[in-house]
Formats: sequence, structure tokens, C-alpha cells
Amino acid sequence: MKAIKVGLLGIGTVGSGTFQVLRRNQEEIRGRAGRGIEIAMVADLDLARAKSIAGDACEVVDDARKVIANPEIDIVVELIGGYGVAKTLVLEAIAAGKHVVTANKALLAVHGTEIFAAAHAKGVIVAFEAAVAGGIPIIKALREGLTANRIEWIAGIINGTTNFILSEMRSKGLDFGVVLKEAQRLGYAEADPTFDIEGVDAAHKATIMSAIAFGIPVQFDKAHVEGITKLQAADIKYAEQLGYRIKLLGIARRREAGIELRVHPTLIPAQRLIANVEGAMNAVLVQADAVGTTLYYGKGAGSEPTASAVVADLVDITRLHTADPEHRVPHLAFRPDAMSDTPI
Ligand code: HSE
Repeated sequence: MKAIKVGLLGIGTVGSGTFQVLRRNQEEIRGRAGRGIEIAMVADLDLARAKSIAGDACEVVDDARKVIANPEIDIVVELIGGYGVAKTLVLEAIAAGKHVVTANKALLAVHGTEIFAAAHAKGVIVAFEAAVAGGIPIIKALREGLTANRIEWIAGIINGTTNFILSEMRSKGLDFGVVLKEAQRLGYAEADPTFDIEGVDAAHKATIMSAIAFGIPVQFDKAHVEGITKLQAADIKYAEQLGYRIKLLGIARRREAGIELRVHPTLIPAQRLIANVEGAMNAVLVQADAVGTTLYYGKGAGSEPTASAVVADLVDITRLHTADPEHRVPHLAFRPDAMSDTPI
């Protein structure tokens, strides 16, 4: 069966990671998806950089609409970010009958209801594992692994930039501004770091998780949002003296009156696992009725961690378009005759 064809809109950090992962693990990915996955087209304004990442086999253009208009492209991956042009292009891709994979948490938290409705009407998928907690497969966990449960609450460190800032301020006594610059240099922070430090990015992600966990529309406007800009070094020091760490948590909780959605700095006893999540790492705690508490930990940002989630979505969508029905439910594809003979 010929490879499924993917068009990438924007090829920055996550786009280049997606190329690397798909190239390096192509055999495994082909086996798991039931057919190859090929990035056939890339749109980016920086043509020279895009060509250097994409290589000669891939068509590189500076107009995203050429990707959407190409009938050969089955899946469009939106890695532009923001609410503006990204929204228009995602809706156009859906209208053109393409499946969409996106890492754009801001877009989904604010316009998700409209986007998911458009996708439903057109019979295509909008997949977004990369939009929340980067490489941690939290969307899959909420939607699939915990599908037997009634979820009671979710609490997560879901912004790497602010966790990095709080960790460095506490452990090295560094100033807020100095650590923020370092987070930007390391590529953790958003283009506009206000979204990170004011809690908006974490609220976008908490909003998306709440929609999946509680089956409600995405309602970013209902979230209470407070960032870390009012915290001082002394607050962090006093918290430590009292046996606490300060973490910016995104919380979604089922209450009798409805769902509570909030992001704010939180005092956590220092001996708790989540209090010891340091640097740019993310962690999400989920409390559910059957399984109890589960904890998901890993890299919430960065090139290949986020690409890991993008490619997982590509594999999921590809499975739907694979002739062999065993691939549509991945665990059924565990076939002894298709096993590698790698020695152990
Ligand atoms: N700015 C985000 C963070 C990037 O710091 O977590 C990943 O969404």
C-alpha cells in the first residue's frame, strides 16, 4: 500500500523534529501504522531553511494554501501557532477534506468548538496530542487508557517555562528575569512569553484536558488564570522553610455545581512526587474513580518530544486508512509473524 501523504504548515522546532523522528524510526512506524507516512509537502515563509530540513524529496512552498489544495495530501499538520492565520488554514484544510494534526493549544482552547464541529461535519479528524504536555501522551491516557473511569480531577504542571523559572529561582536563587531569558534561549517559552508567565499557556492546556476528561466544550473564557509574575524570591524561600514548593498548577475538577477550571501558583508539600518535578519537565496527576490516582511525567516541550506526539497522531490517522483491519486497533496488530528478529 502506498504511503499516506502529509503536508506540513510551518517547519520550526517541532516540524524539524517531526522529520527527524519519521526518518529515524520509519521502519517501526510503517509496521505500526500499516503503511508508510511521508511528508510530501512543506509550506514555510523561510524557503531556504525549510529546504535544508525537508530535503530534496519533499516539495517546499511558501504558500500554505498550495498544500491544502493538493489532492495528494491526506493529512495537514499545522505547526504555525496562534489564533490568526492558523485558524483560517485549519478550517480551510478541514473544508478540503483533510485530516488535521495540530500542536496549537491556543487555537483549540479558544476556537476548538468551532473547529471540532467543522471536522465532525466533514468526517475528518483533528488530532492534538502535541497540544498538551508535549511528549506526554496525556490526551491518549484521558481518552483511551482511562476510558472506563469517571474522572474526578486533573492537576498538572503543564507549562515547562514557568516550572523551569520556579525551579531555578528556588535551587539557584536566580532572578525571575534572568531565568526567563534562559528559558527563551532554550526554546521552552512561547513566542510571546507573557502567555507562559501569566498562566495563559497552562490554562489553554487545562481547558483542552477538561474538555476531554469531562466531555464538555472547550471554554477557555471560563478559566481562572493567574501566573507567576507576582511571586517573589522571598515567597519561594518562605515556602521552602515551611516544607512546601510553589508550582504553577493547571487544575480541572468536577464539582457539584459544574467543572472548576483554574491555573495559579500552588503550595505543595515538598515530599509529594509532583513537588519534585523540576526544570522544564511536565507532570499531570489524574484522579479517577476506578483506577485511583495516576501520574504522567515527561518532557512538555522541545523538538523531538513534541514531534513524538505529532507522529503518534499521524500513525493513529494512518491506521484508519490502512487496508489491514488489524492495524485499526493497534494491540490487535501484535502478530508473531511480523515480529523483528532482533536478538535479546
Ligand atoms: N511554552 C510552552 C511551555 C511550550 O513552556 O510549556 C510547550 O507547550
